[in-house]
Amino acid sequence: MGSTNLDNLWVLGLASKYKSLTSQNAILVFGSFLMAWLALALCYWAYPGGPAWGRYLWKRSKKSKAIPGPRGFPVIGSLNLMVNLAHHKLAAAAEWCGAKRLMAFSVGETRFIVTSDPNVAKEILNSSVFADRPVKESAYGLMFHRAIGFAPYGVYWRTLRRIAATHMFCPKQINATEGQRSEIATQMVSMIACNPGDFPVRDILKRASLSNMMCSVFGQNYNLATFSTETQELSQLVSEGYDILGKLNWSDHLPWLAGFDLQKIKSRCSTLVPRVNQFVNRIIQEHKEAQTSDQRNHDFVDVLLSLDGPDKLSDKDMIAVLWEMIFRGTDTVAVLIEWILARMVLHPDIQSKVHEELDRVVGRSRAFKESDIQSMVYLQAIVKEVLRVHPPGPLLSWARLAIEDTTVDGYHVPAGTTAMVNMWSITRDPQVWSDPQEFMPERFVSKSKEDADFSVLGSDLRLAPFGSGRRTCPGKNLGLTTATFWVGTLLHEFEWVKSDHTPVDLSEVLKLSCEMENPLTVKANPRRTLVSLGISSSFLSPLNALHGDIGILSPYAAAVLFSKSDNTEELLRLIPCICTKDVYLVSLTSIQEQCFSLPVCDMNVHLPLERELCPFDLTSITSTTTQMVFGDTVTIALMAARNLTRDEYSTNHLVGSDRQVSYFQGQTVSKWVGGNWSPDEITAEQIEQELMRQVVDGKDRKVTFDDFPYYLRLCGGSRLWVSVPVGFEVGCRVGLGGW
Ligand code: HEM
Repeated sequence: MGSTNLDNLWVLGLASKYKSLTSQNAILVFGSFLMAWLALALCYWAYPGGPAWGRYLWKRSKKSKAIPGPRGFPVIGSLNLMVNLAHHKLAAAAEWCGAKRLMAFSVGETRFIVTSDPNVAKEILNSSVFADRPVKESAYGLMFHRAIGFAPYGVYWRTLRRIAATHMFCPKQINATEGQRSEIATQMVSMIACNPGDFPVRDILKRASLSNMMCSVFGQNYNLATFSTETQELSQLVSEGYDILGKLNWSDHLPWLAGFDLQKIKSRCSTLVPRVNQFVNRIIQEHKEAQTSDQRNHDFVDVLLSLDGPDKLSDKDMIAVLWEMIFRGTDTVAVLIEWILARMVLHPDIQSKVHEELDRVVGRSRAFKESDIQSMVYLQAIVKEVLRVHPPGPLLSWARLAIEDTTVDGYHVPAGTTAMVNMWSITRDPQVWSDPQEFMPERFVSKSKEDADFSVLGSDLRLAPFGSGRRTCPGKNLGLTTATFWVGTLLHEFEWVKSDHTPVDLSEVLKLSCEMENPLTVKANPRRTLVSLGISSSFLSPLNALHGDIGILSPYAAAVLFSKSDNTEELLRLIPCICTKDVYLVSLTSIQEQCFSLPVCDMNVHLPLERELCPFDLTSITSTTTQMVFGDTVTIALMAARNLTRDEYSTNHLVGSDRQVSYFQGQTVSKWVGGNWSPDEITAEQIEQELMRQVVDGKDRKVTFDDFPYYLRLCGGSRLWVSVPVGFEVGCRVGLGGW
């Protein structure tokens, strides 16, 4: 600021020389001003690092070694480096200037330094001089200067960090909220299971993250599937805030533009803030009322309301702190999980390895738990490797500001300089990481104990995606635990495969976090289909099996092949490979014209088909329905064969509640009797008994639809002919399943 005033005085001084001139010479005066201003701008611009550094160095009496860096353009400096993928552009500029350790550049009147070196990064982030954040108009506009992230370094900021560390981020509190994360994971799994084909996963992840934060901060539980209007409103507030805060605001660096609000940032902030105030204030008031009645003390709002003495926050400050928690905790976790799933789809071999680890550590008969994480070395390595190649904050999200003059890497850095760490560039530096472009989770498991114990929490600046030092991310343990647990669950429950239509695109877009530019579209095949019965099973796509997934089949496994025609090319190619595995082979077909597979299968189930319901006899409506019904039939038979009690089933089943048991029965029953099934018409127990009779005792019997009146309404006269005993070995592994 001081330097700007001096400039003005200089120019005014020049103007005073012309005060006696008449208006005819106005053009001359203006031209002189312009020339003087241009000459000065060019002088400043001539310095390494561009105009802002030039202005400082020009006036500094004590000469010091200049930090190397691009000059950019006169006046605006290197503004172009900070738009779009700034981390890529800064890395390229540093390489070009030979300034990877420390590079200076200017954006308008702001002096920047940036490092792509882990040692210099440590020097900056761990120095108390860089414990402040640079002023951002949008952060002020959105009240964040009264929350942790942008509060100036001092007593207020320290108080907020202490409160958050004690009541929200300490290990005890993180453990106490495990149930909540687990419930949300279950809801995610249910939502994903409803998508048999391609689907974009981002919306589900964002809903889950937002729901998790709303639960921790506001104490409110929401169902992911039925997003309430309140949650939708908050989701919009968060994404609008993200968009505003993620934008490079020209007037932060060219203050003379501030009055124009060219990017509409000021006006967007002033529209958003009243909405945020109203939303959060309503929740605070609800908590105040509830507190007087039942003295609750559950969530972060209650914690803030219970503060007393010097820690007590005004309602306005409380809104800022609560809003920031929701804001910061939502997108970061969702963005990270989306990158992890994208990598799993692109690297099926790595996904298979983590599946193997899940089978070994967890097994298929139960859900993944948070306590499993510590035994899941490979899963943790995957998360670290994704943080390395796709750090959600490649420039560590929010920069640091030098509070006073200091020295970095031997260079003088004046107070008021903004410092950044290009973490993205460090993690891709071949001098820091071997084969940095390769996606190799093994680097965190194989070589030495040091690799396996590598901490991403800020002690080693070769990979510090959560920052380091005084202003390190306070939510790092919570964020990492949530992301690892949810990824573990999603991988345990599903095999993630490429969409048939939308390829995985690793292009990035840098907003406040660095997201996938094109949201990930995937297919999720359930891995634990019969698992709720306590049987290890998984669905195996024949094409993926041919590409290596067949490794999941071990001797004594049973493989069930579903094919309408017994002539499906990929299945026929697969059969000889399966035969070498000593696997019990079962075929399930509806048309047996050529019978390629029958001779080699140990058991053949024929579900004859007279015709498809499709008027053109093309779409496989009847045959697939018949196969599904058969699958349900076998499932129920297996329940009896295993003597599964209702309680056992509830503990195995995804949600593990009575509601789910009746849903399962209801779903099956309505399939048989048609959509208008009424519970009074027929009981689930009756149907179960009937199925037991037909299937368990079905050896050598010919069961027709006449025996099964409930089928007739759906399947229109096709005959179901069960020609095999359903005597599955209890505890066998079932591959190539699908009901
Ligand atoms: C994958 C998840 C996350 C990532 C990658 C991440 C990353 C970061 C980074 C790089 C910083 C800047 C650190 C620095 O300047 O050294 C930061 C700051 C911060 N993060 Fe996180 N974060 C994550 C999750 C969370 C969560 C879950 C919360 C809270 C609920 C949170 C709250 C904050 C806050 C309040 C700050 C500002 C700290 C300060 O200025 O004192 N973050 N985060």
